[in-house]
Amino acid sequence: MNKIIKDQVSSLKLSATLAINEESNKLKKSGKKIYKFGFGQSPFPIPDSIVNALKNNASKNTYLPMQGLEELRITIANYINKKNNNHFIPEDIIIGPGTKELMLLTQIAFNGEILLPAPSWVSYQPQALLAKNKVHWIQTSMDNNWFPSTEDLENKIKKLKNKNILLFLNSPNNPSGTICKNLSEIAKIAKKYKLIILSDEIYSELTFNKEYKSISKFYPERTIVSNGLSKWCGAGGWRLGFFAIPKHLKELKNSLKILCSESFSSVSAPIQYAALEAYKGDHTKYLDKVRNILEFIGNYVYENLKSNAVNIKKPEGGFYLLPEFTNAKFSSSSEMCKDILNKTGVALLPGSDFGFSKKKMIARLSYTDFDGANFLKNTLGSKKLDYADLKKNAPNIVNGVKALKEWSKSL
Ligand SMILES: Cc1ncc(COP(=O)(O)O)c(C=O)c1O
Repeated sequence: MNKIIKDQVSSLKLSATLAINEESNKLKKSGKKIYKFGFGQSPFPIPDSIVNALKNNASKNTYLPMQGLEELRITIANYINKKNNNHFIPEDIIIGPGTKELMLLTQIAFNGEILLPAPSWVSYQPQALLAKNKVHWIQTSMDNNWFPSTEDLENKIKKLKNKNILLFLNSPNNPSGTICKNLSEIAKIAKKYKLIILSDEIYSELTFNKEYKSISKFYPERTIVSNGLSKWCGAGGWRLGFFAIPKHLKELKNSLKILCSESFSSVSAPIQYAALEAYKGDHTKYLDKVRNILEFIGNYVYENLKSNAVNIKKPEGGFYLLPEFTNAKFSSSSEMCKDILNKTGVALLPGSDFGFSKKKMIARLSYTDFDGANFLKNTLGSKKLDYADLKKNAPNIVNGVKALKEWSKSL
């Protein structure tokens, strides 16, 4: 009998992330205190005006146009043009059920090879495997803020000899929490070799210095801008994301539209109406507070963890850090994370899930284990936060970091 599962699907393994989650749940059941630093979800509630927009549109029950509600595409084109200094028109925008789905369909349509910086978000590579696209990794260094240097990028491209190339770039970055500083140089290389760039800007509104820069500003002709509701307004479960695709990539956009219509048809109607409020309304106050809290907590973790035994970069956006444990000696980062979990209750994700060699003793730490609604309520206004706020509103962060630091010192 032939196997009933296709090779490209059966070759996908359950990620180490799931293994850590299972292990955490087991320990939790046995009564151990677990610090959930592995989970990557916004801890904040969705702003009330957006929730109300959803309530008011709950009766919208028809299928909407496959590419998305026209008014929403107009609103998003305006939003992105203002934010990134782009010139997108509503026809360039595709609304999807989260950007993850749009990324998968893009990989299915794309005829070429995929370039991924290590570290990269966990799903780019499995999606490439599903779409039968070859993946090439570019190793990065902490010195270059965990983004590719132009030399490394160009050397890699030269080896690929005239293939179509799709480069994923994600800044602020999951898993490192850092921002790409050499966007204009990367754009020059991209122009020279006609790369397509997928600029994953899902954490852009959570840039701590508020001066977000998109590579689409330097390389508008072949950069797809990817963004959505999941991270900045805590609406990951609502599943709404969008792509803005420049007219140079019209062929790709048209294929993507067909794949969208043959897979999800159109995004949930009430969610699209609610997204109008998300992108039209003024959420500055909410975002200022959210950024303020995340930056404060990120810096607390950074300051309290960094030592001779822990190399780490200061967080610049999003809600992740990427500590490297210089004295750790385990067979893999996955083994290291298991040891950390068993000894301290701190759940982290191994660096190997993000494209690093499994021998690199590095892990992703998500500093979201706190009640965002409470934190927002208890810290009204733009007051400067202090340690007392942290102890009161995010005790798991304080205690988890302390336990992790002690573990690193015991090595
Ligand atoms: C870097 C990155 N890109 C994309 C996504 C997917 O977001 P969406 O909810 O829009 O599918 C995530 C979610 O975890 C992410 O961290």
